[in-house]
Amino acid sequence: MSGKTASRKTSRPALVPRHVAVVMDGNGRWATRRLLPRTAGHKFGADALKRLVRGCVQQGVQYLTVFAFSSENWKRPVEEVSALMELFVQALQRETPDLTAQGVSLRFLGDREPLNERMRELMVQAESTVVEPARLRLNVALNYGGRWDIVQAARAAQTAGVELTEESLGRYMCLADIPEPDLLIRTGGEHRVSNFLLWQLAYTEFYFSETLWPDFDEQTLAHAIADFARRERRFGRVSDKAAPADPAGLRVA
Ligand code: FPP
Repeated sequence: MSGKTASRKTSRPALVPRHVAVVMDGNGRWATRRLLPRTAGHKFGADALKRLVRGCVQQGVQYLTVFAFSSENWKRPVEEVSALMELFVQALQRETPDLTAQGVSLRFLGDREPLNERMRELMVQAESTVVEPARLRLNVALNYGGRWDIVQAARAAQTAGVELTEESLGRYMCLADIPEPDLLIRTGGEHRVSNFLLWQLAYTEFYFSETLWPDFDEQTLAHAIADFARRERRFGRVSDKAAPADPAGLRVA
């Protein structure tokens, strides 16, 4: 089935996050607990990513950004890095047609320079596959770091000679053309951001799960979304339920 013939029907209740970002953590521990090499955890992690994509399409999420490989992950043992790179190449070759059929468009963020040529070619190929209209836009962060993103944006703004403001710099950040993430999910029980989307997460709601990434499924996603639906997002304002401020009371005597 081509992207064009894929059903475009989605049920999207009002409280479904438009953009979900995910730190897929726990592959290594999942494998170690089963006396398997860490790389086996990454392989099963790739299956969990497919379940996440399916779940997002079903739930009506429009944008999904996943952290596949951070700028710091090069510090892992060379065998693990090579296995991960090979897994990315295989996944790109194998999964792109199926993603297109589901109405999922692909895009990558991060520094491509150190990646091998085959990988870079496959990335360009996957990104140029037209999926219109896309049911889900999947962004894969690969050799990405939030600090790298801020620096590349600052350099681009400087080259363009624009005056630096929050708004002007924001235009050069990765993913500047889509809404910022509404919900960040991190699996694996750790409560940190690990240099992911530092700029873009300013007002994102965080959801931490003890689930190790290879065990992630549509139900875990549904729990995260249900939890998100109960949050009150204030963006620095006070609650709608709070009494309005009395301007007279705020005056300095
Ligand atoms: C973190 O778990 C996971 C990674 C660094 C790799 C993420 C990659 C995948 C989920 C594979 C599929 C991705 C694509 C794009 C095909 P960890 O190894 O740090 O786990 P640990 O904390 O238990 O050691």
